[in-house]
Amino acid sequence: MRTFGILLLLARTISVLGLGQTPVIAFEPSSGSLRLADSSTPVQILVEESDWKGVIRTANDLAHDFGRVTGLNGTVLHSNATTKSPGVIIAGTIGKSALVDRLLFTLNTTTAIRGQWETYLTTIVQSPLPGIPSALLIAGSDKRGTIFGLYSISEQIGVSPWHFWADVPTKRHSAIYTVPRTNTINGPPSIKYRGIFLNDEAPALSGWVRAKYGTLPNGAAAMNADFYATIFELLLRLRANLLYPAMWDGQFAVDDKRSQARADEYGIVMGTSHTEPMARSTKEWNVRGAGAWNWKSNRARVEPFLKEGAERAKPYETLFTIGMRGSHDTPMSADVETSVLEEIVASERAILKDLNMTGVPQSWCLYKEVQGYYEAGMRVPDDVVLLWADDNWGNIRRLPNAKDNNRTGGAGVYYHFDYVGDPRNYKWINTVILQKTWHQIHLAHAKNARDIWVVNVGDLKPLEIPINHVLDMAYDINRWEADPVPWLTAWADREFGTDEAKDIARIAARFSVLAGQRKFELVEPDTWSVSHYDEADRVMASWKELVDESSEVYKSVQESAKATYFQTIHHPIVAGENFHKTMILAGKNRLHALQGRNYANWLADEVRKAFGRDHILSKQYNELLNGKWSHMMDQTHFGYSSWQQPMRQYTPPLHYVQTLEPGLNGNIRVMAEGSPAVGPMPDDGANNDPKILPQLSPYSQSRRWIEVFSTAIADVSYEIKAEPFVKLSERSGELPVNGEGSSVKVFVDIDWSKLSKTSGNTTITIIGTVDGKNDTTTVHLPYNSAQAPSGTKGAIEADGYISYEPWKLPELLQAKDVEEAASPRYLGISEYGVTLAPSAISTLTEKSAPILSIPFFSFTTYSNSSITVYFAPSLNTDPDNPMAYTVAVDGQTPKRVQIVKDGVKGDLPAGWDKAVTMERWESKNMIPIQPGQHTLKLQLLDAGLVLKKIVVDFGGVKSTGLGPPESKWIA
Ligand SMILES: *[C@@H]1O[C@H](CO)[C@@H](O)[C@H](O)[C@H]1NC(C)=O
Ligand SMILES: *[C@@H]1O[C@H](CO)[C@@H](O)[C@H](O)[C@H]1NC(C)=O
Ligand SMILES: *[C@@H]1O[C@H](CO)[C@@H](O)[C@H](O)[C@H]1NC(C)=O
Repeated sequence: MRTFGILLLLARTISVLGLGQTPVIAFEPSSGSLRLADSSTPVQILVEESDWKGVIRTANDLAHDFGRVTGLNGTVLHSNATTKSPGVIIAGTIGKSALVDRLLFTLNTTTAIRGQWETYLTTIVQSPLPGIPSALLIAGSDKRGTIFGLYSISEQIGVSPWHFWADVPTKRHSAIYTVPRTNTINGPPSIKYRGIFLNDEAPALSGWVRAKYGTLPNGAAAMNADFYATIFELLLRLRANLLYPAMWDGQFAVDDKRSQARADEYGIVMGTSHTEPMARSTKEWNVRGAGAWNWKSNRARVEPFLKEGAERAKPYETLFTIGMRGSHDTPMSADVETSVLEEIVASERAILKDLNMTGVPQSWCLYKEVQGYYEAGMRVPDDVVLLWADDNWGNIRRLPNAKDNNRTGGAGVYYHFDYVGDPRNYKWINTVILQKTWHQIHLAHAKNARDIWVVNVGDLKPLEIPINHVLDMAYDINRWEADPVPWLTAWADREFGTDEAKDIARIAARFSVLAGQRKFELVEPDTWSVSHYDEADRVMASWKELVDESSEVYKSVQESAKATYFQTIHHPIVAGENFHKTMILAGKNRLHALQGRNYANWLADEVRKAFGRDHILSKQYNELLNGKWSHMMDQTHFGYSSWQQPMRQYTPPLHYVQTLEPGLNGNIRVMAEGSPAVGPMPDDGANNDPKILPQLSPYSQSRRWIEVFSTAIADVSYEIKAEPFVKLSERSGELPVNGEGSSVKVFVDIDWSKLSKTSGNTTITIIGTVDGKNDTTTVHLPYNSAQAPSGTKGAIEADGYISYEPWKLPELLQAKDVEEAASPRYLGISEYGVTLAPSAISTLTEKSAPILSIPFFSFTTYSNSSITVYFAPSLNTDPDNPMAYTVAVDGQTPKRVQIVKDGVKGDLPAGWDKAVTMERWESKNMIPIQPGQHTLKLQLLDAGLVLKKIVVDFGGVKSTGLGPPESKWIA
């Protein structure tokens, strides 16, 4: 029994039974295993009455969870008097259960967990009590240690933490055993206080609460103790411990007098948002406070108000927010000096001292302007946790550096999965990039922000996956890698079973990347280019592919799991696809109306259909399981024109062309890729806008396209003529006046084997016929078949650029010079970027940083060539050491570049709006490049950087949402 430490390190296999846990439970007997329950014998859970109420409550949950699995509820016993063998679980907390203390002493394992935060030990004990040959012992170092231990058994027997909040069905088993010889120690967690903030809770969550729990006499949704209990339970099952309650219209301690005590009994630490000091909600002051929320002018009333908050929370485990902000999440008035804030903090500290509460956990949230006060020199007492914040968009703004690191209070992070504010709210459906969460929490942990991690999760639903993901990282930071697929597979395995787990994980990972490219609220009709790189159609195709894959899996998941699948996977995918489709079709509709296409009318109708479908999808969500989640999908998302949500949804602008009158310039027209303008028709007279396709080369990333469309008031037939080496996806057809067929996309390519000269400019002729009358128009296709010489390696220039996405080529990351650098290493983050191992937190130099070498070949001589590097929109978390990288081509001296230029006094940097909108910084370097074979060399000098893409521009790069697609690569 002395092997605990070693087993703990070895036992890190993925378990289907509990996310990331060492298996303790089995459903088949084996030699040395203990039968806990079967369909005729209930499990008996022995918990002493002297233990924490929350432990006893959880034991009752576990007993019911056994009932969910076997059909027979377990029994919770408080004394061994009635305990009968077999099937005994003994659970208890060190110091609260004499029995557990005795058993641990006998096992000589007390020291393994005593004094640890939220740690538990699970083992099989022999002859723990007279008449009981063996039992499963769950011993906690403290209240939550034991609670997490009990819930880990729930999870492993098959009850998901999301059994209520995402309707995950329980898998039935006829018998439950332990594995033989289980000895595990879990904890302490990587982050001390881990939890969520319910925020921005209208209209969805508050609408749901009204429907389920009613409305309070004061008109607010009844977020009472019973509502909160469901959240407490979810958090504990997810091994979290912290909750900031909803505060838009809620007063946690007042709305239901039972709530604070209930939280404490469950074992949840209650905090309040960054803007609500001393455990009082903003609304309490609005309702009860007298005069202004202003320390300078109204201290006489504000101070006792804060004191009441502390006194009221004193009996309960509470994380006190200290400091003060203006009313409702605004800065205090401009004239507030840090000396006033210091006075406020001193007064709050004095209150706690008066109440004998010195030493209760306190945090000072350095949110928005408050970070500026800190940078300007304001300090709080050493034992207060500095709660740094992100920029509301998932990019942490500041982390402890050498100067902050010796504080006893430590540090934490307030982070966002949902936000109301600039540049736009994002609060509809999930847009969290799991790799980004991984990167940011690892960075925080590596830089010693380990005391608090609290995430603003909006309405809670539909963010089930990112919430579970981040809380698992916060519990055991080293358990999961940057690639989210293994974690998602384990998650899907738990919720749906092994058969679909891999497919679901892949689908969810893909969704995370697609939805994270741009938050829905920021997608406009012109976000994805309809002119260049076929971008809009590619985006639509990616979503469509995901919808198709998800629909297949939806069919195959078990009937009982379909509701879960719809909420957590399928709805976001179909609703997300429909949203992008609406916007893209609206973008095309505008362009096509400008071009006079009859097709514009069909597009406008399609936009209206998709807009209608959005409503149906929301309704389907709200009506799921007989309306269990009614109102949960009420969030508006169509019709943003400023940061604030639209109060009513409306379509993007729609355009209809007049199809009762002919166009003035012919019956058939053509749009060539790359140009939104429509070329001249024979009757235009002028020839000022020839239609020229971008040059095609064997290295072009794709074929070219033209769109042939009708502008007639009668059906048109068309014919396309070209030289024999030109490949066309269509050569003739009919364009009806109305409908989808009134425009046709024709792909154009070259059969390089049939070319007689290396380069040239060929003409494609399009002839349209209506009532025997012909219209003719032409498109020019320049081409160049020049080949890179043999021996060429890497990315090949075409279309005037080179584009390279490093995460797609992991072999480069293991290049020799990378491996030789002892540490740090580059670390891929699949489909999001490449970063350094988070341990590389010290400032690297040109000498110490590994070099990422990318071979490429260019044809063009261009005097203004540039290299633009795309990075994730991370921020400088250390003002003394801003993030930098180096770039060089071939033997050049590496140029050191700082990406983000910080504003003064903690303001956000210039260009931040654009960076969070596009989910990237673009860092441009003018570097002359001669034709030929080259090596591009990059060094990341900071683990905060996530490299996403590199674009070398030889004059051909077009402005698009995602940047130019990847170049061809010669291995
Ligand atoms: C288990 O207990 C719960 C709560 O008391 C009860 O609702 C449920 O029906 C019981 N289940 C079985 C299988 O007896
Ligand atoms: C219960 O256990 C204690 C030891 O912890 C023992 O002294 C006592 O006799 C037991 N009672 C019964 C009824 O077995
Ligand atoms: C108990 O364990 C400690 C180390 O964990 C060891 O030093 C001690 O000898 C052990 N005592 C017994 C009685 O096994």
